[in-house]
Amino acid sequence: MVWNLKSYFNNGNERKYKEANETVNRFVMDVIKTKEKQNRYKTGVDLLSRFMALSLDLGFNDDEIEETWKFLRDIIISFIFGGKDSTSTALTWFFWLLDGHPQCKHLIHKELSMLMTSCHHTHPLNLTFNDLNNLNYLHAALSECMRLFPPVPMNSRLTVDDDVLPDGTHVGKGWFCYYSAYAMGRMERLWGSDCREFKPERWLDGNGVYQPCSQYKYPVFNGGFRMCLGKEMAYIQMKSVVVAVLHEFEIEVIGGGGTVEKNGGSAV
Ligand code: HEM
Repeated sequence: MVWNLKSYFNNGNERKYKEANETVNRFVMDVIKTKEKQNRYKTGVDLLSRFMALSLDLGFNDDEIEETWKFLRDIIISFIFGGKDSTSTALTWFFWLLDGHPQCKHLIHKELSMLMTSCHHTHPLNLTFNDLNNLNYLHAALSECMRLFPPVPMNSRLTVDDDVLPDGTHVGKGWFCYYSAYAMGRMERLWGSDCREFKPERWLDGNGVYQPCSQYKYPVFNGGFRMCLGKEMAYIQMKSVVVAVLHEFEIEVIGGGGTVEKNGGSAV
């Protein structure tokens, strides 16, 4: 009720929130308008330019294009919010864990140098999209890291109507439903008795090929219709960063590398 009152009277942190929202909206809209004025979207290869070029190809009138830009502004903001802290959080845990698992670090280096030799690349920054996709062990290690330390550890939904969950549980209208990817990643029932161990191998088949698992067992990117739209991009971004950093630097964590035990190691 307090929240509604503050919002109605445009007061306190609700006022601050609205002002902040307007600042962010204005900033993104300026980027879109500048691109439009300078015709830069025609040559740009970034996501926004591609969206703009597609929208302008549809031949909208001025009013329609203004609405499209607002829609595009919201898409861009959700991509920035969705993609910024999530990947950086995952990478922070990843480098921390890696220092505590030298064998895993060794296998990543090995996979990378084999790939670079087979592609005749001298620097990981020259790796292509397909090359990065072929890094199965690294993909597994990142997935394993996010199983134990999911960037979105808890998520919720508010029901718009009475409903029944697949297991028969009744959920009333207006109730909050939560799921915890953090707890699920540490459940013996789902991941076995070694669920507290950081084991990228659990994601690989006998040929070392990455095996994805059900979104509902591993809801790190959510599941169903509202699943993360940037999942594949996130993996590519994280892989590019990992290979570039490991190629140039030796990361040593102050106080020793990370293990699950060092950070709330209990199974659920
Ligand atoms: C490790 C990295 C990431 C994780 C763990 C992650 C996780 C998630 C989760 C849990 C959701 C569902 C949120 C909800 O509906 O309550 C989500 C949605 C979304 N994510 Fe990500 N995300 C990651 C990276 C990215 C990146 C890099 C982008 C874009 C470049 C992105 C774009 C989005 C968008 C647009 C949605 C909204 C989808 C929708 O509501 O239909 N995410 N993400």
